[in-house]
Amino acid sequence: MEKTFVMLKPSAVTRGIIGNILSRLENRGLKIVAMKMTQLTEEKAGKLYAVHKGKPFYESLVEYVTSAPVVALVVEGEDAVKIMRKLVGNTNPKEAESGTIRGDWAMTTTKNVIHASDSVENAKTEMNIFFAPQEILTYKRADENWLY
Ligand code: CMP
Repeated sequence: MEKTFVMLKPSAVTRGIIGNILSRLENRGLKIVAMKMTQLTEEKAGKLYAVHKGKPFYESLVEYVTSAPVVALVVEGEDAVKIMRKLVGNTNPKEAESGTIRGDWAMTTTKNVIHASDSVENAKTEMNIFFAPQEILTYKRADENWLY
């Protein structure tokens, strides 16, 4: 089954909306198979956002994501990358539809509350930054036969 990497950013933690966001993933049918609260170092943030190094928003992005704890997750499901990106909404919250996570809880692109990988390949790279292989678990959801 496909896996994707998700990170609840510092404003999700400090605003107390971790539970609301996780409920949306669970309600949709995605399965949380790894989860960790941690505070990013500049080095780790640099690995996660390596493709954005040198862009005008890079410094403010790193400053924000290292400013308070984050919650890192691996979630699993059929087409998990695509489903997660739909749940999250447009990178710019001003363009994100209401009903999406960013459309409901974010105001700016930098403080856009949540990150979700944009491809299966990037998901693998990103989950490896946060999790050892043995920390990604295998179990069945009780409703799995009714989701697929
Ligand atoms: P995220 O999905 O975590 O991936 C890269 C992040 O860079 C993005 O969300 C935004 O928080 C941040 N960012 C800031 N400015 C921009 C921009 N102009 N274009 C894309 N991403 C941006």
